[in-house]
Amino acid sequence: MITQLLKNFNSYGFQYDLLDWYYENKRDLPWRENQDPYKVWVSEIMLQQTKVDTVIPYFHRFLDKFPTVYELAKADEQEVLKTWEGLGYYSRAKNLQSAVKEVVETYEGKVPDNPEELGALKGVGPYTKGAILSIAYNQPEPAVDGNVMRVFSRILKIEDDIAQAKTRKKMEAIVREVISKDDPSSFNQAIMDLGATICTPKSPACLLCPVQDYCRAFEEGVQEELPVKKKAKKQKTMAYTVLLIKNQKGDYVIEKRPDSGLLANLWQFPMVPFSEIGEENVEKWMRQEYGLSLELKEKKGDLTHVFSHIKWELEIFEAETTEEKADDGRLTLVSQEELKDYPFPVSHQKMMKYL
Ligand code: ADE
Repeated sequence: MITQLLKNFNSYGFQYDLLDWYYENKRDLPWRENQDPYKVWVSEIMLQQTKVDTVIPYFHRFLDKFPTVYELAKADEQEVLKTWEGLGYYSRAKNLQSAVKEVVETYEGKVPDNPEELGALKGVGPYTKGAILSIAYNQPEPAVDGNVMRVFSRILKIEDDIAQAKTRKKMEAIVREVISKDDPSSFNQAIMDLGATICTPKSPACLLCPVQDYCRAFEEGVQEELPVKKKAKKQKTMAYTVLLIKNQKGDYVIEKRPDSGLLANLWQFPMVPFSEIGEENVEKWMRQEYGLSLELKEKKGDLTHVFSHIKWELEIFEAETTEEKADDGRLTLVSQEELKDYPFPVSHQKMMKYL
């Protein structure tokens, strides 16, 4: 019960000291220049699973290309993915564009300012919804991600497993109680900054913390043991032979991934879902699955790429084909120069050094 947890907690003092610190020390970030809900939205989607320093250049490029909901709504999906190339979790970009289209079609281009309409948009979960409502629209709504859970698990010495959905719900109820009603936008951003710069996962800088006096974990010296997070399952390993297939003209065979699932609609060099299966078998597989005849050449290297639930172990081979055209729908032949116009996952970008 959160009433019990907050019984002796001085919420006003906590808000005051936190906000005082934030007004003096807030990070100068491009999405903080104003409270444009579209920019807040784009930044929050990019910042899920990705660090601030990585996001900044992508944020600038994305807004140069798509400065308002209107440009993003009418953009070509491949161009959106190209702008997102390297950030990972590409479904974020596709959902963002679908949701923005809905905003243009249904809400005359105005990002909804109420939880029902906002939360019904594609890709807008409880965190993003709360972040937009609080940061852009000054509403006292919680925006709870892993960083926020770390801060509050320490402040209130909460030992629940933060991997569980019910813990996030409990944290939301807590933030709803302790959030500043005068400046909820700054309150939520202050917690984010505190989590990023002071209340870090390892070796938190408690001696510099503006809310040290309120921190129950610090009082008992257990800040490094919190939050409690039970281990997720190990990633499933998938082995592939990746083929860098060139024809006599010097064009390369690339393939468009399916329009759903992992890395949907991105392009890649053809991947045979086995490793060490032997030359004849790779050639046979490509002939049967793609109708493409080729000759396997030398091995160029190995590469491992880890996603959230899957790990790819890739063996990379050169190959040659006599085909001049490849258009069974999935495959296409493009020059080395043209490769850069297609969105590729990071693992395949890394292979381009072998071309
Ligand atoms: N992490 C997630 N959202 C953020 C924001 N708005 N500012 C800084 N860091 C963040």
